[in-house]
Amino acid sequence: MAIKDQGVRDQRFSPQELVDAEKGLVGRRIYIDPEIYQNELERIFAKCWLYLGHESQIPNPGDFMTTHMGEDPILVVRNSAGKVRAFLNVCPHRGNRLCRADRGNAKSFTCSYHGWSFGNDGGLAGVPNLNDAYFGQLDQDLWGLTPVTQLDSYKGLIFGTFDSEAQPLCEYLGDLAWYLDVFVDRCEGGIEIVGEPHKWLVPCNWKFPAENFAGDMYHAQWSHLSAITTGYGSTANRNNWTGNIVSPGNGHCVVAVGPNDINVPPVPEIEAFEASILPQMHRRLGPRLSRINPIFGTAFPNFSFNRAPAHTLRVWHPKGPEQTEIWVWAFVDKAAPVEVKEAMRLASLRTFSASGTFEQDDMDNWQGCTETCRGVVSRRMQLNMQMGLGHDGYSEELGAWASEFRLSESNHRRFYQEWARMMG
Ligand code: FES
Ligand SMILES: [Fe+2]
Repeated sequence: MAIKDQGVRDQRFSPQELVDAEKGLVGRRIYIDPEIYQNELERIFAKCWLYLGHESQIPNPGDFMTTHMGEDPILVVRNSAGKVRAFLNVCPHRGNRLCRADRGNAKSFTCSYHGWSFGNDGGLAGVPNLNDAYFGQLDQDLWGLTPVTQLDSYKGLIFGTFDSEAQPLCEYLGDLAWYLDVFVDRCEGGIEIVGEPHKWLVPCNWKFPAENFAGDMYHAQWSHLSAITTGYGSTANRNNWTGNIVSPGNGHCVVAVGPNDINVPPVPEIEAFEASILPQMHRRLGPRLSRINPIFGTAFPNFSFNRAPAHTLRVWHPKGPEQTEIWVWAFVDKAAPVEVKEAMRLASLRTFSASGTFEQDDMDNWQGCTETCRGVVSRRMQLNMQMGLGHDGYSEELGAWASEFRLSESNHRRFYQEWARMMG
């Protein structure tokens, strides 16, 4: 739909004007405008609880990993006392990136520029020429690493926020917690990450992958048709589709199929394991699992997860309005036999990784959706997110806003409604 000429760059930024969740319309400027992107970093990425990593990646004292919150570099470390801490990965002396490694184990971190060093509790531990050049007058207590303001974890998933007034993590997740449990707590012992994460750059705005995992069941039958034809995909009879698109609040979104639509990769070890854990899953997750089977979703704003046909956790790191760095970890049930873990890792690699068949289908579309926003006329269009308008509402049974039918854009509307609220 064409909208009135907004003068594009000169128009004052008005999120409510660009997102009309009631009508299911979203202005394309939000995917391309540098000013809007800077506002996202301030109002969304410096405010929300963001996913930093999984505790199984740093099991021992001194283990660390680096990541980002928005465009801020972050160092997550289990200190020598065994407590998980997170800091800006920025040396407070001249602002150099402190730790250059993806992960490792260290008692301290030394800056490559002038040699200031910091303990794994964030304190400034060593300063070259402290006595002769600083005359012993540098207050080392004031110049430690800047901690992430709030840090918490949910069943091994570590989250942080730079907002001191952000609600506690458990409130932020709300009813999403049950849906996350289906991914990370369906077996005794929860999950663990296997192998190294895959990381790569895609020339697309971060919201396209986030909204895709939030609720885009619609594209699977078309974009992924060839991958599905190979056997990786829904086993459901398409004339009898069940499932719902659900939003448990705060912009979080999950796509769920029907309870008997298992979506297991066609790998004998995995099929046998999945069948064997069903009674345990129902015991742990309760009666809601007999009603609905969550298979992928997005925790607002940029943490996504899927368990069909692969098990991955993923973060869409924003790198400018037209670039996203995708990080993907394969996860497995900790209690699974070794051969099942390896089969799950390989299934994830083959489907949802930089070289995965499904992932490649998706990336190409997200890139196309972003590139066309460069046109000054193209970016004045509004996008259509109207599927199922009026056919969604709050469901007590599901603890979430839910669509009537398995295909709907109800989650897109909830995602962008939250985006506009935070940006306003
Ligand atoms: S910038 Fe790190 S020691 Fe100078
Ligand atoms: Fe997809």
